Amino acid sequence: MDIKHVGVVGCGLMGSGIAEVSARSGYQVTISEATQEILDRGLGNLRNSLERGVKASKLSAEDRDVTLGRIKGTTDFGDFKDCDIVVEAITENLPLKKEIFARLDDAVKPGAILSSNTSCLSVMDMAAATKRPDRVVGTHFFNPVPVMKLLEVIKTIASAQEIVDKAKTFGESLGKTVIIAPDAPGFVVNRLLVPYLIDAVRMLEAGVATMKEIDHGMVLGCAHPMGPLTLLDLVGIDTTLFIADAMFEDFKDAKFAAPPLMRKMVVAGRWGRKTGKGFYEYSK
Ligand code: 3HC
Repeated sequence: MDIKHVGVVGCGLMGSGIAEVSARSGYQVTISEATQEILDRGLGNLRNSLERGVKASKLSAEDRDVTLGRIKGTTDFGDFKDCDIVVEAITENLPLKKEIFARLDDAVKPGAILSSNTSCLSVMDMAAATKRPDRVVGTHFFNPVPVMKLLEVIKTIASAQEIVDKAKTFGESLGKTVIIAPDAPGFVVNRLLVPYLIDAVRMLEAGVATMKEIDHGMVLGCAHPMGPLTLLDLVGIDTTLFIADAMFEDFKDAKFAAPPLMRKMVVAGRWGRKTGKGFYEYSK
C-alpha cells in the first residue's frame, strides 16, 4: 500500500511540524488533539511556521494555501480511518501512549502503519498494545522538524522489514535522511547527545565555566549551530531530564545521571523556551 494519507496524533511542537512537512510534501494530513482549543492553538503555530517560509521567500503564498488545504484538524480518532500511516506525537507518557496505540488500532484500517515520535520510550511496549505489532515502528523527528534533516526509524524486534522499509521511504519523501535505530532508550542520536547536554549542566553547576563560556566554546570552537545550554532551552529541560532518566533507568550508567540543577529547574518551571525561561530568558 502506498502512503497517501498521513495521520498525526498531537498538535504540539513536534506534531504540528510533522503535519507541516507531510503536507508540504504533498500528503493529505489529518491531525488530532484532545480538545478543539489545543488543536486551534497548534494549527495557529503551524500557520505561523508556513508564514515564516513565505516571508523568507522559501514558499509562495499559493503553496502555503495548497499546503493548508491538505491539513484537516480533528478531535475524533474516527477521522484516521483512511490513513495509511499514523504518527503519534503526544507527550512522553508511556501508559498514555499505550492507550493511544490501542485506540488507534481500533480506529485505523488494518493495513496501516502506526508509529511513535517518542525520543526514548520503548516502541515495543506501544506495539504490544495493538493487534498489529509487526506494523508498528518509531519515527523520531528532530526539533525544529521543518529544518532538521534527520529521521530515525526505530525497528522493534516485532517490526516487519517491509514496514521499516516503507517508513524509511516515507521519511525520504519528506526530504529527510533516514537512519535505522534500535529500540533502546535514546536510539542513536539522543544516546550521544543527552550525555553531552547534561555534562554541560554539570560543568556549570561545578563552576567550571559560565553559561556564555560553555555555549560560545561549543559554537565557536566546534562549529555547533547552538551551544548545549541554548540547545537545552530549545529541546526543553523537562524533556531532556525525562530522556536522561529513562536512559539511566535502562542502562544504569552514571553518564546518563541528570545533575541536580536540572531537577531544580524543572521544579521551578524553568523548562526553556516553552515557559519563557530556562538557562536564558525569552521575551514573549
Ligand atoms: N520552522 C521553520 N524554519 C525554521 C525554524 C522553524 N521553527 N527555525 C529556524 N528555521 C529556519 C529559518 O527560516 C532559517 O532558514 P534559512 O537559512 O533558509 O533562511 C534557518 O532555519 C536558520 O534559522 P534562523 O536564522 O532563524 O536561526 P539560526 O540560524 O539560529 O538557526 C536553528 C536556528 C535551525 C534552530 C539552528 O540553531 C540549529 O540547527 N540548532 C540546533 C538544533 C538541534 O540540534 N536540534 C536537534 C535537537 S535534539 C532533538 O530534537 C531530539 C529530541 O528527541 C530531544
